Formats: sequence, C-alpha cells, structure tokens
Amino acid sequence: LVISGVMLMSDETILKKLPEEIRQHIEHLERIRSDFVANVSHELRTPLTVFRGYLETLIANKAKAPEGWDNIFQQMLQHSSRMEHLISDLLLLSRIEVEEVHDAPSEQVDVPYLLSELQQTAKEYSDDDQHELTFNVDSSLMLGGAEDELKSLFSNLIINAIKYTPAGGAITVTWSLVNSRPIFQVEDAGIGISAKHIPRLTERFYRIDKARSRDSGGTGLGLAIVKHVLLRHSATLEIESVPDKGSTFRCLF
Ligand SMILES: Nc1ncnc2c1ncn2[C@@H]1O[C@H](COP(=O)(O)OP(=O)(O)OP(=O)(O)O)[C@@H](O)[C@H]1O
Ligand SMILES: [Mg+2]
Repeated sequence: LVISGVMLMSDETILKKLPEEIRQHIEHLERIRSDFVANVSHELRTPLTVFRGYLETLIANKAKAPEGWDNIFQQMLQHSSRMEHLISDLLLLSRIEVEEVHDAPSEQVDVPYLLSELQQTAKEYSDDDQHELTFNVDSSLMLGGAEDELKSLFSNLIINAIKYTPAGGAITVTWSLVNSRPIFQVEDAGIGISAKHIPRLTERFYRIDKARSRDSGGTGLGLAIVKHVLLRHSATLEIESVPDKGSTFRCLF
C-alpha cells in the first residue's frame, strides 16, 4: 500500500478571494502578531547571550565546580543552544512571512557552493548514525534569490531527513534542472509521514510525534520557514511520503 500526498501552497490564493476590507484587516492582524513575535524574540536574545557567556566561563573553570556539575553544565549549554536556535528561527520567520510574496531579494546565489557547505554540516550532524549521504549537485546551476533564506531552506530539509531517518538509512540530495526548472530534492529512507499529516506539516510548531520531536530538539518551525522561503521565491513544494519507507521533499523553482 502506497500512501503518498502532494502539498501545494494556497494561503495566498485564499486570501485573494476575500473582500478587500477583510483581507486588509487580516493582513493588519498578521502584522501585529508577527511584530510582537519579532520584538519578544529580539528582546530575549540579549539576556540569553549574557547567560551563555557566563555559562561558558563556568565550564572553562569547571575544575573548581562541585562534583557532579559537569553534567548540569552540559545540559544548560544544550538548552541554551536550543533557545538560541528557536529565537533565530522565530526572527527569520517573522521577517519573511509578512513581506510580500515573490519578493525575496534577487542576488545570484551559488547553490552548489551552499550545498557543499551543507554536505559538511550534514556529515557532522549524522555523525553517530552513519547515514548513507549522497549529494547529486549540478555544479553549474545557480539561482536568483536570497542566499540566507535559501540556505535555511536547504538546511532545514537536509537536517530533517537526517533527524527522521534511522541509523544507516540512505539520504539523497539532488540539485538539478528538470524540464528547464531548477529542482531541489531531498529523499530519505526514514520513518515517513502518514497522508493525514502532510497538509499540516508547514504550520508553525506542527510536529507529528511531539515526544519524539522534543528528544531530537525540534520546535516545528523548520517547515514553516521552508514554506515562506519558497513563497518568496515563487516556488512550490511537493511532499511524497510512505510511512516506514521514507519521504521526498521536492522544491520546484
Ligand atoms: N523527512 C521527514 N521524515 C519524517 N517526518 C518528517 C520529516 N520532515 C519533517 N517531518 C515531520 O514534520 C514535523 C515538522 O517538521 P519541522 O522541520 O517543521 O519541525 P522539527 O524538525 O520538529 O523542528 P525544527 O523547528 O527544529 O525544524 C517534524 O516534527 C516531523 O514530525
Ligand atoms: Mg526540522
């Protein structure tokens, strides 16, 4: 039995169908919400940096610390990294989600170079699990867009594939031209996703298995970022997945 789902993005289309006044009101509320999130995230950043600075000093002097504190320091460090990750995801998301769609700054982005950097990150991330990582990259294929946004998009999909694929599983990343469209695709042989979850995956904070995602340090913002980056690059996302077999996330530019 093959369960697969394809998700296309339609928020924008729905919004366009509403009467002008209601649409403006919704957009206004969206902006207030997004500004609030951005302000809170920004304000949290400074205290967290101070906290982390002192923590690193304590770790450097841990010889003087009471016995048993090593583990406590490591946990504090781990959680502060998680908070930093969460804050930077929230800041990125609030920056890109309210700006006009199809409006990403357009510089010539050296995608093959970005992917070679991410291949290294992926190797480190998969460290203990020894996934079979394959990168098929068209080394001459560039893309007009925003480099920081594209990097976040690629890294979210690659890290997800590693996170949700058991040790030893195969992961293939492809960047190529298909029917004159640049395609970025990540295929994994991981735990898969049942069809009913697929339409909701790109919602903020949506995670399928909350306990499991918490273990892996996830917050559920990754695919929301992916969705908005794609919208801003006039690109679409297709997701195909079979539970216990694996998933394919395909971005069509
Ligand atoms: N390749 C995949 N295979 C199986 N499930 C996946 C895959 N990618 C995403 N998911 C599911 O979709 C959920 C949402 O993914 P998303 O990347 O948004 O959040 P996350 O990985 O939990 O956290 P983070 O914000 O750190 O990325 C995940 O929690 C997971 O349940
Ligand atoms: Mg993720």
